[in-house]
Amino acid sequence: MNKKVSWGVLGMGVMGLNLSRNFADQGISLALYNRFMKGSEEQVALKKIKTYPELNSALPFESLDLFVAAIESPRKILIMLPAGPIIDKIIDDIIPLLDEKDILIDGGNSHYNDTGKRFLSLAKKGIRFLGIGISGGKIGALKGPSLMVGGDRKAYHIVSKDLLKIAAKNINGKPCCGYLGSGGAGHYVKMVHNGIEYAEMQLIAEIFEICLPHADSNLESIQNLFKSWQNSSSESYLLGISSEILSYKQAGEPYINRILDQASNKGTGAWVTASGALAGSPNNLMTAALHARFTSSFQSLRKKNSIEYPSLASNNVTLPNLKKTYDICRWINHHQGFEMIQQAKDTYKWNLSLENIALIWSEGSIIKSKLMNQLKLLFPDANSVMEMSPFKKLVSKGQKEWMDVLIYSIGKGIPTPCISSAWNYFKAITQARSSAYLIQAQRDFFGSHGFNLIDQKEEGKNHGPWA
Ligand code: 6PG
Repeated sequence: MNKKVSWGVLGMGVMGLNLSRNFADQGISLALYNRFMKGSEEQVALKKIKTYPELNSALPFESLDLFVAAIESPRKILIMLPAGPIIDKIIDDIIPLLDEKDILIDGGNSHYNDTGKRFLSLAKKGIRFLGIGISGGKIGALKGPSLMVGGDRKAYHIVSKDLLKIAAKNINGKPCCGYLGSGGAGHYVKMVHNGIEYAEMQLIAEIFEICLPHADSNLESIQNLFKSWQNSSSESYLLGISSEILSYKQAGEPYINRILDQASNKGTGAWVTASGALAGSPNNLMTAALHARFTSSFQSLRKKNSIEYPSLASNNVTLPNLKKTYDICRWINHHQGFEMIQQAKDTYKWNLSLENIALIWSEGSIIKSKLMNQLKLLFPDANSVMEMSPFKKLVSKGQKEWMDVLIYSIGKGIPTPCISSAWNYFKAITQARSSAYLIQAQRDFFGSHGFNLIDQKEEGKNHGPWA
């Protein structure tokens, strides 16, 4: 009988393949499985093993039972498939082949509620289930991803030795990997990560668009602006790649100009928007970024409307300094994300530490940045991002310029969904008396829903004189 391997990886798409190569680089023995589909997916695992030398001792499979049988007990099987019913299907197929205490891991972008349900139903069958949010894209998977683990704690103790080896390391050499709680905790944190990612990307796109029509601007000058910001506290992975993207040319023309202006999404942005709404946790930057993608998808309607409703752009506005606005909005975006996590900590009783999550996100992940490293250092002494003194300083120095950027964008007819959402949130959350008393009066007027009075000592419903 052949010696059994340590891990099984199921699904040889780009993420499954690159994680396998990362495991193999760490000397971890592997069984690799990919389904057989006549004509389209044949001998996929074998072909990968032949292509990548680091995989040469891995075992290829197209039969699920032989794949499972090749893994040592308790089995550690990482499923790398797209989120959705396909995960339930593969779990159903694999369960009869497993033994109690085997560990199944979903490393895709599954919804945290699905992961929570799978965790409970597999626990009843004695199978240990982990849902891991994996960030870093294909390069992260290969060189070191950020790993957000949730599910069976005992299973984490067994797999953590290997996960810590493949994970990215932060500036102090600590692995960007951690156990965040039972059920869907890992996928919840990954979902919030993606919400922050959406808003980070949208903010860069807005700054880009604000710069574009300016007389002194061209793609090269914007690229240089982003490059210069990379040497400051604004540094981030997403800003870096944006600057690089602008440098690509084809036949002397900027390549970016050839790309259709319709942004796609795979669902996590909608989940985080819905989760924020259901939990009552304001996350309007992520929401704005998602809706900006939705709006972009109506391309022919936008074109038609642009003729019907021409912009009243003014030429008499000067381009203000954008950096402080960009920085303030990023801090607010991170604030909203960490607030969602803080709230989930109480709702789901997950042992989430904001400092630890900032560490996990500080390397390997798509939202790694200088800011994330700074937040990691500041969290032990602050309950929220908005309490942190660098944020207070930024606002006191940059609020006027932030207003100027908004005025400029309105003057130029440029939509700024995220920058204005940040402004509206900030203005609302720092407003001593909101207009909500009128809402309460309206609710009472038409529905006798009642309200509290300002000087009321104990909770109790009051009704207005209109009752
Ligand atoms: C990551 C990313 C990744 C995500 C893509 C695509 O952290 O590596 O979040 O997991 O799938 O960014 O997401 P959208 O298609 O929704 O933009």
